[in-house]
Amino acid sequence: MTRPSGTLVFSSAFDAFDVWRDALHAHLPDLAIVDASEVADPASIHYALAWKPPEGFFDKMVNLRLIINLGAGVDSLVGRRDLPAGVPITRITDPQMARMMAGYVLFATLRHAREIPFFEQAQRRGEWAYRHPRSPETIRVAVLGLGELGALAAMELQRQGFTVLGWSRSPRQIDGVQCFAGIETLDTVLEQADILVVMLPLTTDTRGLLDRERLSRLPQGAALINVARGALVDQAAMTDLLREGHIGSATLDVFAQEPLASTDPLWAMENVLITPHLASVAIPSSSARQIADNIVRVSRGEAPANQVDPSRGY
Ligand code: GLV
Repeated sequence: MTRPSGTLVFSSAFDAFDVWRDALHAHLPDLAIVDASEVADPASIHYALAWKPPEGFFDKMVNLRLIINLGAGVDSLVGRRDLPAGVPITRITDPQMARMMAGYVLFATLRHAREIPFFEQAQRRGEWAYRHPRSPETIRVAVLGLGELGALAAMELQRQGFTVLGWSRSPRQIDGVQCFAGIETLDTVLEQADILVVMLPLTTDTRGLLDRERLSRLPQGAALINVARGALVDQAAMTDLLREGHIGSATLDVFAQEPLASTDPLWAMENVLITPHLASVAIPSSSARQIADNIVRVSRGEAPANQVDPSRGY
């Protein structure tokens, strides 16, 4: 087994450097692993493990061999000006990350399906407000995006007995999920979505996909869950539709601008739950192995697994 040497730089404002360093060292004992703040000479860097690194981060990294996105969505890496030409980008595809995401989607879906916000508000008024529960098969949940994360979430929802629809760019098949593909089928899916779950990658094709017109196709009072990227949705239109009640409620983990401005009207809306982009995160103990395998491959001159296609954007 090759034991790659060289230097890996770590950059993330959200993840703990020492935890990642220790997890990676267990697989790559000869690799030097440094935090971005410790790099004096960018030319000494061979591998980068990064989540939303600052602009210019890759400048002068002339010996870079591999960029590993410390997360699932690569939109903040693809299309940057400072990327060294020809250096492959990979992303983490970790079953535990998918499970964490499916857990969040399930929580948010059940919250809407069981009308928990209604009961929370009634409790604050000190009111015993009975509403008869709906059975899950009468609730149609549409998942947009059936990649690794979306497909697992759709399967979990189906296991809970919801009527699940799935939509993706290219055709997919998931047992028990009614799958649709292609932009021409999107309106049909939206029109049936009592609960809409957005799990698409952000690309030039999907930016702004859920505009005012498409959001208006949702049934009156539908719930919206966005765990993907804020820029997939026209946030101003979504806010208006939430205010009018056309969108009955929303669980939002992602926003066009993050952090969401403290003056944003969404904060004060009773029918909106906001979480600060944490539906799923990269998990060191379960993804260090695949990162290490990719570093070994690249150090041997082989192509890494899970390579991002920059032209496709994911
Ligand atoms: C989180 O948003 C990720 O893309 O991993």
